[in-house]
Amino acid sequence: MTPPVRIIAIDGPAGAGKSTVARAVADRLEMDYLDTGAMYRAVAFAAMRRGIDPADAEPVALMTRDLQLEVAEKVTVDGVDATIEIRSPEVTRAASAVATNPKVRTELVRRQREWAAAHGGGVIEGRDIGTVVFPSADLKIFLTAADAERASRRSKEMLELHYDEVAADLARRDRTDTTRDTSPLAVADDAIQLDTTGLGIDKVVESVVALAEAATRA
Ligand code: DC
Repeated sequence: MTPPVRIIAIDGPAGAGKSTVARAVADRLEMDYLDTGAMYRAVAFAAMRRGIDPADAEPVALMTRDLQLEVAEKVTVDGVDATIEIRSPEVTRAASAVATNPKVRTELVRRQREWAAAHGGGVIEGRDIGTVVFPSADLKIFLTAADAERASRRSKEMLELHYDEVAADLARRDRTDTTRDTSPLAVADDAIQLDTTGLGIDKVVESVVALAEAATRA
C-alpha cells in the first residue's frame, strides 16, 4: 500500500495521547514512526550518565553533536539500550531542561529531517514538528486533553509516582515547554486540533487516518 501522505506531524502536550495515536496511525497507513521526545530524553540520559549537568548548555550541546543515537522500537544511546531508563522521572525532568537548549534543538531537528528523508517520510510526534521541523507537513494534528485526564494517563504509566506528583510534574513541564524561547509548544496555524478527553484511542486513530486520506485527495 502507498501511504496517502508523506509526513504527518503529531504535536501536543505530555499525556495527550500522541505516542499511542502516532504509532497506531503509522501502523494503519504503513508508514514509519518517529518519537522525537525520545531523542530529547536520550540526550538527557547521556548527559546524566557522563556526569554532565543537563542544564549546562555548552557541554550538553557539544556532547549531542557526536552522540550516537538510534530511536526505533528500542532507544540506543552510544550503543547502550536506554529504552526503559529514558522513561524514568529523573530523565523526564532532565529532558525538559535539555529541550530548552537551542543548540541541542538544532542538532536534533537536523537528525529528524535526515530520518524523514531516509525513510521517505513518516508519522512524527513531538512538540514543534508542525511549526518548526516540518512546516510543510501534509497533515498536522495537535492533540490535547483535559489536564486531569493527562495526569491520570501519565500516572498509570509511572506507577512509582503519586497522582499529585505526576500532576505537578506535568504542570511544570507544560510551563517549560510552552514558555521556552526556542520552538515552544504551539499550535501551527494549519494544524487540526483534536481533544482526546474521554475518547477511546480507536476513535482518534480513525479521525487521523480519515484526515490523512482526505489530505491526499485535497
Ligand atoms: O514527548 P515526551 O514527553 O517524551 O518529551 C520529552 C521532552 O522533550 C519534553 O519535555 C518535551 C520535549 N520535546 C520537545 O521539546 N520537542 C519535541 N519535538 C519533542 C519533545
